[in-house]
Amino acid sequence: MKKLLIAGGCGFVGSCLVKLALKKKYKILNIDKLNYASRKLKISNKNYSFKKVNLGDVKKLEKIFNNFKPNYVINCAAESHVDRSIESPKVFFDSNTIGTVNLLYESIKYKNLRFLQISTDEVFGSLSKKQKKFDEKSKYKPNSPYSASKAAADHAVRSFGETYNLDYIITNSSNNFGPFQYPEKLIPVVINSLMNKAKIPIYGKGLNFRDWIYVEDHVDAILLCLEKGKSKNTYLIGANTELTNLELVKQIIKEYQKITKERENLNKLISFVEDRKSHDFRYAINNNKIRKTLKWRTKNNFRDNLIQTIKFYIKNKHIIKHFYSNDAWLKRKYTQK
Ligand code: DAU
Repeated sequence: MKKLLIAGGCGFVGSCLVKLALKKKYKILNIDKLNYASRKLKISNKNYSFKKVNLGDVKKLEKIFNNFKPNYVINCAAESHVDRSIESPKVFFDSNTIGTVNLLYESIKYKNLRFLQISTDEVFGSLSKKQKKFDEKSKYKPNSPYSASKAAADHAVRSFGETYNLDYIITNSSNNFGPFQYPEKLIPVVINSLMNKAKIPIYGKGLNFRDWIYVEDHVDAILLCLEKGKSKNTYLIGANTELTNLELVKQIIKEYQKITKERENLNKLISFVEDRKSHDFRYAINNNKIRKTLKWRTKNNFRDNLIQTIKFYIKNKHIIKHFYSNDAWLKRKYTQK
């Protein structure tokens, strides 16, 4: 049985990845520092174990690697919210960049270990409406402290491949959504506002484009890259679902009204607010490489996935309540006076 160490397996993407990898018969060790957005997983399976670890704790990390001796390492540990990175950049470089370097440093001590770095399309910066979608040849041009911290981590991974011959893969994905996403990200923010009949804050004019992928499709692609990807290669992961934020918000409202049979027109909740600093205009992914070389396909369509996500939050209102009661930043930002 192959041993897979997942860093950050209690986050939104990480927890979905843990569940899928368990089905695929890996022996998994999940290490996570348990930050504000983490969720302790209730998994009782002999092939799963968990350890609370901060990637800054190099001694603990060394011990963990020594005991577990992984064949694979997937790094999905990251501080991920752009708005928070604008307020507190340093923590992003500590966690995302230095944390990755510490993981890499342990990984090169083991022969035949494959390292997969989960990254983001934000490292490529911003596209205009007319520009071609990002692909594996796109240049790095990050604009926020978050994306710069991830770009720096990706460069570190590549450098360990060149210098120490580490077998690595980097995946850059577009915007994820799905159940359990932390309610600081656009889709759960909108659903939460609808459930509370509160204002839906849209930055600027809502004309920025994002390219959406269901989290289950993303983790499916990650495991495919881990197993079949070519060493020292990058794979871009996206589901060809480009929408402006305003189009997306209107679609969520429409589906929410259908599900809840709400008669009142909830579009009136849309509220245009101050724009994000250095707000990237457009992200879009050309997924030809992963589709053609690894035969990756998405499972369901965007609308069905969106409906599932809305239904999840309606059914699990306590999850959002729980996050709000433990997170002063979220409360400050989204609770109306
Ligand atoms: O592209 C992949 C990236 O997607 C990931 O690497 C990041 O970790 C993840 O946070 C996400 O970044 P974005 O900044 O695109 O996601 P967010 O959900 O914060 O915002 C999506 C769009 O919606 C963006 O144009 C900003 C806008 N927005 C966001 C929030 C939270 C609003 O208009 N209002 C809001 O309240």
